[in-house]
Amino acid sequence: MIDLICGARPNFMKVDPIIRSLGGKVRLVHTGQHYDYAMSGSFFDQLGLPRPDVNLGVGSSTITAQTADIMKAYEPVFLQGKPDAVVVVGDVNSTLACVLTAVRYGTPTVHVEAGLRSFDRTMPEEINRLLTDQISDLLLITSHEARENLTKEGRPDGSIILVGNPMIDTLLRLLPESAEKEVPHGKFGLVTLHRPGNVDNRELLGDILDSLGRLSPLSLVFPAHPRTLKNIKSWGLQNRVPGNLKLVEPMDYLAFIKHQQMAEVVITDSGGVQEETSVMGVPCVTVRPNTERPVTCTLGTNVLCPDPLGIPAAVKEQIKNRPEFPPVIPLWDGSAGARIAVEIERILK
Ligand code: UD1
Repeated sequence: MIDLICGARPNFMKVDPIIRSLGGKVRLVHTGQHYDYAMSGSFFDQLGLPRPDVNLGVGSSTITAQTADIMKAYEPVFLQGKPDAVVVVGDVNSTLACVLTAVRYGTPTVHVEAGLRSFDRTMPEEINRLLTDQISDLLLITSHEARENLTKEGRPDGSIILVGNPMIDTLLRLLPESAEKEVPHGKFGLVTLHRPGNVDNRELLGDILDSLGRLSPLSLVFPAHPRTLKNIKSWGLQNRVPGNLKLVEPMDYLAFIKHQQMAEVVITDSGGVQEETSVMGVPCVTVRPNTERPVTCTLGTNVLCPDPLGIPAAVKEQIKNRPEFPPVIPLWDGSAGARIAVEIERILK
């Protein structure tokens, strides 16, 4: 039996294809990092994920306290379950906390989506990625540049295997089901911003809102993450929300992928959204100075926009250069879950 860990919104679409391929050999552990129906429960319903076997119910706090809370809550569950391996995905606090718990007991560990690097250590996710990759036994990567990052950090080449992108398995599986979801009439852009680097700084968040206003008359839909909404309200930035920008609650998965697919452009600071837009051939502007997913810029439809004031020009350019056909990224083909299952079975033997 393996423990498969999930905790925050971007984890659910990555564990789904692994469960589908590994079947009954999985104990699904939800840390409770995300707990709202909109951030967690709705994804279980729409993806058809089984209810978690265990929910650690940790909830929100500081990064340090949250990571520690997850470790403290997971240790007894781990000891009771005695899993043969622990599999973690992505780069959230739950990822690091659970892998760190498992290695203390010498249990084999697997990191899915290993080797991504933004080289920006101010990002909590970069620290989670670096540490998780140093201590995991098997490193399953989504694209080839991850191998170079990992070998430079001294990880043995034999522990690194290219399996493709499991998040894309879920996207390709559920796009047809999203067809019924309603999107705005006419042309629109989609916005998602939640990184502390963008939204935890009052001045920067205000500048970003102003810049989005300059995209008028293009109307924009912004399903805001709780962190972003909280900051807009507490800093009294509501009056800087421009007329062409509609702030809405976080969307469910099917509504969100349909919005991405139909958008003229997507403006984001999320990692997964850079990947999903690339596969669908939708122009993406990433409001960050770096990306841990450079393949979305070299082969996909993504461009970095480090300066919020540059958003209008970047958007214009991206819309102009929209590809006729969606790009093809090697092994982002809907079968990553099956390849991941083969590798996990191998270490279990
Ligand atoms: C986390 C991940 C990030 C990921 C993002 C996706 C880390 C370090 N960060 O960031 O990589 O892109 O999830 O959403 O793990 N909140 C709610 N309801 C919830 C969950 C959170 O209201 O269900 C609020 C919390 O009260 C907190 C804020 O959102 O104030 C941030 O939540 P947290 O889990 O700390 O980090 P995220 O910003 O969501």
